[in-house]
Amino acid sequence: MVLVTGDIHGCADIGKLTAKANPIQKEMTKEDFLIIAGDFGLVWNNDEEDLWWRKWLDKKPYTTLFVDGNHENFDLLDDYEVTEFNGGKVHRIGESIYHLMRGEMFELQGKRFFTMGGAESHDKEFRTLGTSIWTQEMPSDEEYIHAIETLDRIGWQTDFVITHCAPTPIQSEIAAMLGFPDVYPSNRLTDFLQQVREKLEFRGWFHGHYHTDLTSTIDPRVNLLFNNILQIV
Ligand SMILES: [Fe+2]
Repeated sequence: MVLVTGDIHGCADIGKLTAKANPIQKEMTKEDFLIIAGDFGLVWNNDEEDLWWRKWLDKKPYTTLFVDGNHENFDLLDDYEVTEFNGGKVHRIGESIYHLMRGEMFELQGKRFFTMGGAESHDKEFRTLGTSIWTQEMPSDEEYIHAIETLDRIGWQTDFVITHCAPTPIQSEIAAMLGFPDVYPSNRLTDFLQQVREKLEFRGWFHGHYHTDLTSTIDPRVNLLFNNILQIV
């Protein structure tokens, strides 16, 4: 079983993962996965609160995976050792918590997952560099190149895509639906994701970042998640 959901922002929006809110977890084992589509936020200070909630996740019957969003402490995240996990590169954050790195391909329960975290913060003026915002929130040149190399290697075919932000036209659609057409301008990453969307064969694309749940009318394969938890495998 593979479940996917949206941002948790540390413990702020973790309520959706309780046994009561997500009862299907009773049927899951550590061979099953729950993927968070960015803004994990529990590698923020590595303080007692982070550790308590990571332990709480470790006690879940499933294995927790996440792509990075924009609200992550990238300096801390980058300090973790890079290891291999189900075909791609990860940071292992806990006993059964893994950060799925950018431009990687993972095989989970027989399905392919292409991952590309990151997003541009729209509230930069209220944030402090190195404390509440990090330049690494957007991919580096090397990460874009690596993503293309990975897609070339797998012949531009996957089952699923997990990102934090959306391809440019879908981001514009979401912003208009939310009534904030100017809050989310296109950027290098959303344009890159659009190029990937045009070329890549995929069945489903799941992302977070915009804090609501909806399916794109431009491309119904692309789903924005926040509170919803979808079983995709
Ligand atoms: Fe978020």
